[in-house]
Amino acid sequence: MARWLVLLSALPLLASSSAHSRHRLATRSVIDTVTASSANTTITDPASYVNVFIGTTNGGHVFPGATLPHGMVKVGLDTDSPGNQAGYDANPIFSATGFSQLHDSGTGGGASLSNFKLWPLPECDSFASCNTSMYARQTLRAVLPDGSPDDAGSPGYFATNLSTGVQVELTASRRTALHRYTFPKSSREPRIVVDITNDGLISNTDPVINEEPGYGYDFEAPTEYGVYLENSPVQNSTQFIQLYSGFVSEMGALLTFPPSSNPTHQVTTILARVGVSFISSDQACANAESEIPDFDFYGTVATARATWNELLSRVQVDTQGVDKETTELFYSSLYRTHIVPADYTGENPNWVSTEPYYDSFYCNWDTYRTLYPLMSLHDPEVFARIVRGMINIQQHEGWLPECRGATVPQYIQGGSNGDPILGEFFVKFYEHATALNVSADALYTALLADAEDQAPNWNIQGRQATTWKQYSQRINLYRVLVVMIISVDFIPSNIYGSGGAATKQVSRTLEYSFNDFSIAQVARILNKTDDVAKPRFANGEWNYTDPRHCSVNDPLQSTCYLDTKNHDGFYESSPMVYSQYIPQDTAKLITMQGGNKSFIDRLDLIFDEDYFDVTDEPSQQIPFMYHYANRPGYSTQRSRMIIAESYNTTVNGLPGNDDSGAMASYAVFYLVGMYPLPATRQFLLASPYFPKVSFYNPLFNTTTTIIAKNFGGNPADGKGGTVFVKSGRLQSVTIDGQPWHSNCYLDWDAFVNGSTIELELTSDIDTPCGEGSDALPPSLSTGGYSGLI
Ligand SMILES: *[C@@H]1O[C@H](CO)[C@@H](O)[C@H](O)[C@H]1NC(C)=O
Ligand SMILES: *[C@@H]1O[C@H](CO)[C@@H](O)[C@H](O)[C@H]1NC(C)=O
Ligand SMILES: *[C@@H]1O[C@H](CO)[C@@H](O)[C@H](O)[C@H]1NC(C)=O
Ligand SMILES: *[C@@H]1O[C@H](CO)[C@@H](O)[C@H](O)[C@H]1NC(C)=O
Ligand SMILES: *[C@@H]1O[C@H](CO)[C@@H](O)[C@H](O)[C@H]1NC(C)=O
Ligand SMILES: *[C@@H]1O[C@H](CO)[C@@H](O)[C@H](O)[C@H]1NC(C)=O
Ligand SMILES: *[C@@H]1O[C@H](CO)[C@@H](O)[C@H](O)[C@H]1NC(C)=O
Ligand SMILES: *[C@@H]1O[C@H](CO)[C@@H](O)[C@H](O)[C@H]1NC(C)=O
Ligand SMILES: *[C@@H]1O[C@H](CO)[C@@H](O)[C@H](O)[C@H]1NC(C)=O
Ligand SMILES: *[C@@H]1O[C@H](CO)[C@@H](O)[C@H](O)[C@H]1NC(C)=O
Ligand SMILES: *[C@@H]1O[C@H](CO)[C@@H](O)[C@H](O)[C@H]1NC(C)=O
Repeated sequence: MARWLVLLSALPLLASSSAHSRHRLATRSVIDTVTASSANTTITDPASYVNVFIGTTNGGHVFPGATLPHGMVKVGLDTDSPGNQAGYDANPIFSATGFSQLHDSGTGGGASLSNFKLWPLPECDSFASCNTSMYARQTLRAVLPDGSPDDAGSPGYFATNLSTGVQVELTASRRTALHRYTFPKSSREPRIVVDITNDGLISNTDPVINEEPGYGYDFEAPTEYGVYLENSPVQNSTQFIQLYSGFVSEMGALLTFPPSSNPTHQVTTILARVGVSFISSDQACANAESEIPDFDFYGTVATARATWNELLSRVQVDTQGVDKETTELFYSSLYRTHIVPADYTGENPNWVSTEPYYDSFYCNWDTYRTLYPLMSLHDPEVFARIVRGMINIQQHEGWLPECRGATVPQYIQGGSNGDPILGEFFVKFYEHATALNVSADALYTALLADAEDQAPNWNIQGRQATTWKQYSQRINLYRVLVVMIISVDFIPSNIYGSGGAATKQVSRTLEYSFNDFSIAQVARILNKTDDVAKPRFANGEWNYTDPRHCSVNDPLQSTCYLDTKNHDGFYESSPMVYSQYIPQDTAKLITMQGGNKSFIDRLDLIFDEDYFDVTDEPSQQIPFMYHYANRPGYSTQRSRMIIAESYNTTVNGLPGNDDSGAMASYAVFYLVGMYPLPATRQFLLASPYFPKVSFYNPLFNTTTTIIAKNFGGNPADGKGGTVFVKSGRLQSVTIDGQPWHSNCYLDWDAFVNGSTIELELTSDIDTPCGEGSDALPPSLSTGGYSGLI
């Protein structure tokens, strides 16, 4: 585990809160603040459309607190909710327990980070009687007339009113949090608890207190101070060691500040600045001092909001004829794709490097499918920095990161899915790699390490490479009742190696195949022709698995999650879902499954009998697969039905965890009418929810615009409507005025050039992909990707 160091500087601010109220930027009802925008109006304040509370209860695990895009500090409210992976829960029955500096967003597993909580105490009988322990001090939030907690938030800002009458406001720069506590008038001895032991997992059952000052407090003129053990603060004590007398779990400091002396506004406001560093307390201090030198709370809020607006406004939508909830869903989702991974550059405790360091990859298995392809469209410079950071991790640890948090590798979910992320970057930006400071050689070396070098424990990083290489010379006909999963290669279910018995061998087989495809895409660009040809076919054995396995229809109700009992080969989805996952060669899959008609019937059955699982990533591409069977309208309708059924702007408006923004990125693609295949230069095409969508790419300095010419609105349940991209002799898709050969996919070139893409819509759901042989989206077996890429 990493060492944690924090410096806290608290400055009493003897000012009234009302003097600042005009600066308030957030309101709880996002919609009310948005004025209707007319056609062709640039949205200059997209942050006003962001509802940070979507997915903050019932398992969404979204972080609604204050952060910069990919900021290291994510300062927010922690609660005692059992679903507090991001600290917060929008359900007011859960008590607030503290305001901590570091969080992740949308993760499953245990509650990560949530370190270094601060807590305001408006009144105690005496210093020594203050409730300092988390269980004693915790309190409910104030509740509004509609029953929701009195919380507010917007990009870069968070606020809550506690039932004790204290208003808490939070903002952040990259490595520094700024807290603003406004105490009620009645509070004549306002105090702050500095809790150094309670993290998200309450894991500090045996805190080690270092005599050397690993952290330090620097505060201005508190009237009282002291450290505490559990619920016993001791005034004037400064050393935990004095208090330490055996097994204890909670330690921290308690500070009392002078109340406001302003005769008219007798509320006391205390600003607390927290610099965070994984390196040293000096560095934590320096971070705080350089990033927020003047404790300017509303200035910091304004800077954070401007940073978010610059990023979010790269994607513009025309809102004419579109309901406000759709626009809110759109920008809120786009926002959540930029919370993690977090930029810990300069704070890597593991080795010294001048390269960027990003952390909180939970996990690449979730994000490789849609999050990074979305980043390609509008944020390539940050994408390049993340890629450099991943390569640097491979150079120091041997393999690309897969699941990583708190600066250490965590359990993987499937394949080595850093590979398609690097592949996605290189396939789209290889001509700009040097300009973006990404070394093509280092990138390729990192990919080969994943592919070729057996990791000591492939459940943590890398692959079961030795076994994969041995058996990937064969063809595995993995038969599941009526379903046949055809994969070029396989991992036997009875060879565990160093990864243990939770082998997920079928899932990993399919993912390793796609991972190898993405490496081959890079190899092709680099002319490494020997490597492109590596995976080969041969014959293997069969085993039987009930296709209902791991689905809601499974009579055995197997879970297929990360546990040692999962010997089934499948991870977070059924054989029915995995049988559709060969994204690089869906044409082959269609042939093997009996042609277009039976393939479409299979997709329909997956939806009609609930094999489609909207909460888990292996299902993500299934709604769009009708494209490959020449029925793009069915994809359009399925994807729109999913948005209608499973995504909305309420606090429980997410199906399952947001998975580090993976689910958010999927919603963004559905709403703009596209679906990506990572590590290729194609996007599947459907219709946008807006008459016009544009992407500004700062690397190319170009804007690509998709215009739905006869846009007629979005059906509320996703069914029917004039929303299907027309094809046929009329050539209804044009790029810069020229007829385009398919209405089923677009090429990346259009997004490099800054093209204007015009679509004509029809109500005919049976509209096909187009006339020519190149109308269907590419697949390996039909010659796809064989040109340059
Ligand atoms: C919006 O822009 C399109 C071209 O991009 C133009 O045809 C249309 O007239 C404009 N609408 C308004 C209201 O300005
Ligand atoms: C301190 O916590 C206890 C519960 O442990 C509670 O009964 C008491 O009211 C609290 N005191 C104050 C001043 O909040
Ligand atoms: C909290 O209370 C203050 C003062 O009454 C009010 O201005 C604010 O809107 C309330 N809500 C939040 C989330 O700050
Ligand atoms: C703490 O120190 C202050 C100032 O020296 C003194 O007035 C106060 O009585 C001390 N409190 C305790 C509990 O020792
Ligand atoms: C690439 O590195 C150079 C030299 O360190 C630096 O000046 C430049 O800003 C970097 N470019 C990007 C896109 O990171
Ligand atoms: C790969 O080969 C092509 C065609 O010969 C050439 O244009 C390209 O520069 C080569 N790329 C590399 C990285 O060598
Ligand atoms: C075949 O799969 C079944 C589960 O369907 C499993 O119980 C059995 O162990 C597998 N056989 C072998 C040889 O791995
Ligand atoms: C599916 O339909 C397309 C377009 O009509 C056709 O090119 C392709 O051969 C069909 N695939 C199969 C396996 O029949
Ligand atoms: C919002 O979405 C969630 C998650 O899919 C769903 O459970 C809930 O019923 C939806 N709420 C509304 C009002 O549509
Ligand atoms: C980007 O393009 C715009 C025109 O579209 C131009 O005015 C601007 O100078 C360009 N910026 C750079 C940095 O080249
Ligand atoms: C992009 O621009 C290049 C060069 O101008 C051109 O050859 C190509 O056809 C364009 N691609 C698209 C999809 O517009």
